[in-house]
Amino acid sequence: MSHRVRVCFVCLGNICRSPTAEAIFAHQVAAARLAAQIDIDSAGTAAYHIGDQPDRRATAEAQRHGVAMVSRGRQFRRGDFELFDYVLAMDEANQSDLLDLASTPDQRAKVHRLREWDPRSTGPHDLDVPDPYYGGADGFADVFTMVERSCAGLLAHVVTSHHLTTE
Ligand code: 4NP
Repeated sequence: MSHRVRVCFVCLGNICRSPTAEAIFAHQVAAARLAAQIDIDSAGTAAYHIGDQPDRRATAEAQRHGVAMVSRGRQFRRGDFELFDYVLAMDEANQSDLLDLASTPDQRAKVHRLREWDPRSTGPHDLDVPDPYYGGADGFADVFTMVERSCAGLLAHVVTSHHLTTE
């Protein structure tokens, strides 16, 4: 088998959306008994929340679904492009910032928006996971379900593309 598939979810602050995606994907990967074959991380394009715990509202929503969130905020660095196979932006601004940071076509090709794998996306204009930071609890609930179904689609894609099987 080739190397582990490495996935990094990226939002702005790395305290709401991308740590939620990291936790959900880790949960799904563990349930599929694929944890030995997939590495998962998250990061923010901004430096605002380096070292911070995830937002309490995101943690509370995840907890309601039995998903633990344990990551700390960190900023995405240029070098991360060499550490990951998939760099998954939560929204168009995150994607644009990542593409600006990328220095080769190979690096740019690693950047996608997570909702490219959302079966309920209605098309190219509907690929954002909206930033819930300045809104209410509803926003966090919406982010959770949107990210959950997108991550399930992403996992199916990763399993197929990389020919992953459980022993
Ligand atoms: P996130 O949400 O990008 O989903 O982690 C945000 C968190 C913090 C801020 C903005 C968005 N902020 O401006 O501090």
